[in-house]
Amino acid sequence: MMIAPTLPAELKAALDGKLQGFSRTDAAQRSQKISTTYRAGGGSGAIKSEADALAYALARMPATYAAVAASLNALTEIAPDLAPETLLDVGAGPGTASWAAAEAFPSLQDVTLLDANATLSRLALELARDSSRLAECRYLPGDAGGNLAEVSQADLVVASYVIGELGESEQRALTAAMWAKARHALVVIEPGTPAGYARILALRQQLIAAGAFVAAPCPHERPCPLVAPDWCHFSQRLPRSQAHRQIKGAEVPFEDERFIYVALTRTPPATRATRVLAPPDVGKAEIAAKLCTEEGVALAKVPRRDKAAYASARRWRWGDAVIAES
Ligand SMILES: C[S@@+](CC[C@H](N)C(=O)[O-])C[C@H]1O[C@@H](n2cnc3c(N)ncnc32)[C@H](O)[C@@H]1O
Repeated sequence: MMIAPTLPAELKAALDGKLQGFSRTDAAQRSQKISTTYRAGGGSGAIKSEADALAYALARMPATYAAVAASLNALTEIAPDLAPETLLDVGAGPGTASWAAAEAFPSLQDVTLLDANATLSRLALELARDSSRLAECRYLPGDAGGNLAEVSQADLVVASYVIGELGESEQRALTAAMWAKARHALVVIEPGTPAGYARILALRQQLIAAGAFVAAPCPHERPCPLVAPDWCHFSQRLPRSQAHRQIKGAEVPFEDERFIYVALTRTPPATRATRVLAPPDVGKAEIAAKLCTEEGVALAKVPRRDKAAYASARRWRWGDAVIAES
């Protein structure tokens, strides 16, 4: 099911409940410190107290949720029959990806969160407690790599904004461990930066070599056709709440989350969709769009005089799948 990039009402209510009496200034300071550590390569290491966890959730959960929602939408668009009943949320943090997966897949029944940060996990469990879908979720504390060796396979495995916290060899090991536990699909999401793209590319290559198929965003399993310094990422717009504006000192009532993802499946996708790699350039005479096709990257030019093609190209948005009409 295609889902909205906004937090589900139950999650929003649970977060709002926790925010009662929580100072915005304090949250702003904490979230700034957390981002500084994150950008300096310290991962989520600055999240130590309950207030830190809440500040992190307030600052980042809406945007990471939006990125996961967009990635799961891209997967369901290509694999509409996928109906996972079990989920492993690796590096679950406050449980963001589990909430998105519960929205995207009404079939989901059994959710396991894996995370080494006890404070964030406690928040995840508190937020999930009153959820109609996640109240029964299980939590495995400690290193996700080690824990994955012990758990049964799940239909879907998701790792959202996690692998960037690991060193290269740990990334390779966790990638193999996650794939081993993914019965039908694995979705990995990272920040939309050149480094995030490089990590997704390495994971994609490692798992294609292990027999994985790419459902999205790429329409093929061949090496990525982009040539450095060119790179691939997407952007998801989401509304910014008033509290979020206060915390971030932002003016506009929306934010654009840049992200990169890959959705891998055990079986070949039924359709291969051309992917729109950048915002199309809509000119007077034609629309020019950068596309990733089964044959490689193409700069498509659709002239206005080709009425039907022009009308469909006008609907193309960055990140869209263009499924060939026959
Ligand atoms: C940036 S947060 C993302 C949280 C959540 N997936 C989201 O998208 O909002 C990264 C999370 O990965 C967890 N993490 C990183 N390395 C881990 C590991 N080796 N084992 C378990 N958890 C890990 C951290 O504790 C943190 O909660």
